[in-house]
Amino acid sequence: MKKIFSIVGARPHFIKAAPLMEILSESKLELKTIHTGQHYDTNMSDIFFDQLKLPTPQINLGVGSGTHATQTSQVMTGVEKILIDEKPDFVIVYGDTNSTLGATLAAAKLYIPIIHVEGGVRCENKKMPEEINRAIIDKLAFYNACPSQLAVDNLHKEGIFNSANFVGDFMFDTYCLARSQIKNPNNLIEKYNIHPKKFILSTIHREESTKSYSRLESILNLFSNLDYPVILPLHPRTKNFLTSNGYNFESNMNLKIIEPLGYLEMIYLLINAKLVITDSGGLTKESFWSSVPCITLMDVTTWPETVDLGWNILAGLNTNKIEDSISKFIKNPPNTSTELLNPYGDKGSALRMVKDLNWI
Ligand code: UD1
Repeated sequence: MKKIFSIVGARPHFIKAAPLMEILSESKLELKTIHTGQHYDTNMSDIFFDQLKLPTPQINLGVGSGTHATQTSQVMTGVEKILIDEKPDFVIVYGDTNSTLGATLAAAKLYIPIIHVEGGVRCENKKMPEEINRAIIDKLAFYNACPSQLAVDNLHKEGIFNSANFVGDFMFDTYCLARSQIKNPNNLIEKYNIHPKKFILSTIHREESTKSYSRLESILNLFSNLDYPVILPLHPRTKNFLTSNGYNFESNMNLKIIEPLGYLEMIYLLINAKLVITDSGGLTKESFWSSVPCITLMDVTTWPETVDLGWNILAGLNTNKIEDSISKFIKNPPNTSTELLNPYGDKGSALRMVKDLNWI
């Protein structure tokens, strides 16, 4: 019986792992989950295990926060020990975080084949920690489960051929399942006193977004003065940054800064939102699937298909560009009359990968 280790640690991993865990839990394979502990707050981790019915991790490394090298090396050291003790046949890693990189390096040096969910994604900005991580993880993976044809092409351009497989986006299955289940969880619309299609949903968490306080403050000031209220479930990184710079969280009623939300709550707000403004790659795709226009707070995106199809504008962290993009989308929303193309594949990506690997 094959022994498979799934290594998760940060919020986006839990969402990507969900459809695969469902399939593997019902298979004859021996499956273990290791949590690196990169994300540790209840609403950054536990709530996702609960809502997405993920298997409880057998081990939590409790790595927590730190510089890039500290976080990555602690994951490497912790994962290496478990891999030496338990000798799995395969290791599954997800996305592009420091946890993904640390686990990949540990497994690669023990010659354990790595299955990388969401391989081949690029944005060509080498100053993003995630972009550095992606290039290394993809190179070392035995199997890259690519979410799009573009991701396969990216790997081919880098000379990576054998491991590149277009199976589609695992997040799409999680998204579809959530949509079929949610009905105004916790009365969010009433709780935040908003009206469907009359509010903007925003998230901001990238390292680049939290480098300059004055720039971030200008964006929040812009949000405070828009015609629509803005709901901002705030990532702890951004909250810490604002707090340490003395930001007044009570300053404006139009900007509702709230705690990070669970997956179901987030998707519910998303499908009811008029617009999304975010620096999250995951939310960019989810807004595309929900036919909600998205303004990206980065100059580049890992999901250029959403820009090409008219559902995403790259505004960067420039308030003038953000304001122009909001007016543009409100005056001229993208055309929803034609059926939306999904460059990220149909449902069933995790199953396609598992069959491709002859695991079931
Ligand atoms: C990480 C990933 C990013 C991903 C994001 C999703 C890397 C390099 N980045 O960024 O790609 O999009 O997760 O959220 O791995 N913190 C808490 N509680 C938590 C988690 C974090 O307070 O549960 C705080 C800590 O102060 C920490 C800061 O947030 O220093 C940043 O956390 P970290 O995990 O290093 O990076 P993210 O910004 O979450």
